[in-house]
Amino acid sequence: MSRSSNVWGTVAVLVMTVGLVPLLVMASDPDPLQDFCVADPTTGVVVNGFPCKPSAKVTPWDFWSGVLKNRGITNNPNKSNVTAANVVNFPGLNTLGISAARIDFDKGGINPPHTHPRATEILIVAKGELYVGFVSTVGANNTLFATYIKEGELFVFPRGLVHFQLNVGKGPALAFAALNSQNPGAQAIAPALFQPDIKDEVLELGFRIDQKIVDQIQKEFRK
Ligand SMILES: *[C@@H]1O[C@H](CO)[C@@H](O)[C@H](O)[C@H]1NC(C)=O
Ligand SMILES: *[C@@H]1O[C@H](CO)[C@@H](O)[C@H](O)[C@H]1NC(C)=O
Ligand SMILES: *[C@@H]1O[C@H](CO)[C@@H](O)[C@H](O)[C@H]1NC(C)=O
Repeated sequence: MSRSSNVWGTVAVLVMTVGLVPLLVMASDPDPLQDFCVADPTTGVVVNGFPCKPSAKVTPWDFWSGVLKNRGITNNPNKSNVTAANVVNFPGLNTLGISAARIDFDKGGINPPHTHPRATEILIVAKGELYVGFVSTVGANNTLFATYIKEGELFVFPRGLVHFQLNVGKGPALAFAALNSQNPGAQAIAPALFQPDIKDEVLELGFRIDQKIVDQIQKEFRK
């Protein structure tokens, strides 16, 4: 092969790669088709998202929310509380591809391993210090990306990957999150597997544990 055909080969690969980028970038909520579409959940019409409230009835308050103002109660086994501001309690987010959350931690509190099937999450620490991380599928090797973050610092959890946050500071901690979906969804690993009535054999073989341990964990998550 001549040198010039090599160059054109490289150009072709670049063009094809760049052409694929928009497809990869589209992996979040669909683009809106109008400025806004404040959710009207009362219509009973089932669509991907919610139908829009008539724009003549839309007010500034539709784009305001106070749901993250107050500390969540952390008196529970996680010693933490996740308060979400998504399309369900903040209808103005409908079609905008964004939502938020606050996470309050008691000393030693945890937001246990979970995933958001529809969103990447960026977390900012407002108070305290957290040990945070996610597990990637790169090389099918479950590579851990984890570190410690403090007040004012950010960490990003890529869409769909298992991630967690643990309060490692000397007192309570507070973090806020932004997620690129109006309805990110959350699936916690332990409750997802040990709360429903999955046949014991699946859990015994899946986790390489015996029935006694399966029963013990199930009891914990069925309280
Ligand atoms: C989280 O906090 C809210 C508001 O204080 C409270 O109603 C809710 O029960 C708490 N959830 C858990 C799991 O502790
Ligand atoms: C997985 O990790 C092992 C040990 O570090 C390494 O030898 C192997 O090449 C990795 N496999 C892949 C597919 O990345
Ligand atoms: C504790 O965390 C798990 C996993 O995220 C969650 O499913 C569960 O609702 C939380 N429980 C309480 C009481 O906060």
